[in-house]
Amino acid sequence: MVKLLGTLISFLIPLESASGEKRVAASPETVKKLISQKCEVFLEKGAGLSSGFSDDDYRDVGVELVSSQGADVWSKVDVVLCVQVPCKVNLERMKPKSLLVGLLAPYGNESLANTLRVGSLSALALELLPRISRAQSADALSSQANIAGYKAVLLGASALDRYFPMLMTAAGTVQPAKVVILGAGVAGLQAVATAKRLGAVVFVSDIRLEVKEQVESLGARFITPPDMNEINSGKAVYAKQASEAFLTAQRQKLSDHLAEADVAICTAQVPGKSAPKLISADMLDRMRSGSVVVDIAVDQGGNCEGTQKGETLIRKGVKLIGASDLPSSVPNHASSLYARNLLALLEPFLIDGELSLNLEDELIAGALISHQGEIRFPDLFIAAGAD
Ligand code: NAI
Repeated sequence: MVKLLGTLISFLIPLESASGEKRVAASPETVKKLISQKCEVFLEKGAGLSSGFSDDDYRDVGVELVSSQGADVWSKVDVVLCVQVPCKVNLERMKPKSLLVGLLAPYGNESLANTLRVGSLSALALELLPRISRAQSADALSSQANIAGYKAVLLGASALDRYFPMLMTAAGTVQPAKVVILGAGVAGLQAVATAKRLGAVVFVSDIRLEVKEQVESLGARFITPPDMNEINSGKAVYAKQASEAFLTAQRQKLSDHLAEADVAICTAQVPGKSAPKLISADMLDRMRSGSVVVDIAVDQGGNCEGTQKGETLIRKGVKLIGASDLPSSVPNHASSLYARNLLALLEPFLIDGELSLNLEDELIAGALISHQGEIRFPDLFIAAGAD
């Protein structure tokens, strides 16, 4: 057990600085638990407002409110809990050996590595938590992806010019919408469940054959990938990046499904890489006017040709929604679940106001990208995004 910090440690919950970010890293429920562990908690005023938590809600459980304009607190606290990585100015104010915990987007972020190194900071990037059973309660990627999958279907349904369910009315029968979901990870499976609940007929494509059973158990149909020999690892949690030849064959296979689809939900991703391009311009040409593509992989370059972050474009009658930041659009639940994820990660190492991170613990060892300024996975910060 390596003692990372001293006794009676202090936490800061900042007002998130990333544009459009509505979430907050701690809820009144989770800070109450930190305070009951004899920790001191500071919160920048207004940090929880967009998530439906007032300053009074935090004050009532013992949090000390500080101004987000004052720099002082950043240089005093031992731990900063954030959603997205704070601005460089604030990171540079953190005291040496203090700890940053959040969705730090480390892939390819050399500037972050540099700031952590120069500031002698420690940092836990939640993206890197190993996907093992014990990590489930701390798995922020999953809690947030679940929300993204759910919200993507709602966006698709509300932009569509048709009903989702089959309806038998006095004016005649309406056929159910056909929804094609690309990627059956956490977001994709939640999208399947949500589209099924709304009554759509759902088809799903993924390159991991092991998800076929999960897809079918939700009542959807699985589109078998073109060549399993190349890609399917059998047991790997994540997909490998597919070759261009594989993706060409996959696009051919998907093209007929998309030509008949009302809504396509794009969730296919490969961690640390660009999202695979699964819908080409030719395939869009075959989609019917009035159909909708919701691309939640848009932050990683998108699964669909032409989608733009945060924008809805209309291309030959097809609506292309570049659905960035979906978890932040359901901020109350997204923050509540995210805050619990952070607490679940740190609580086992908190005893009587003292935080002792065990660097040999599988979760900490996997997610600790910097230990007191020593960068632990240097390749990650350089190689990310590379194809
Ligand atoms: P992700 O967001 O990285 O990827 C989403 C999906 O895209 C994956 O299912 C992937 O196979 C698929 N994909 C990649 N390339 C594709 C292509 N060319 N065509 C179609 N689909 C493609 O993955 P996510 O959602 O973060 O998690 C992946 C898996 O990790 C989960 O399905 C689950 O098996 C596992 N997991 C395990 C956990 C645990 O045990 N603690 C917690 C959460 C997830």
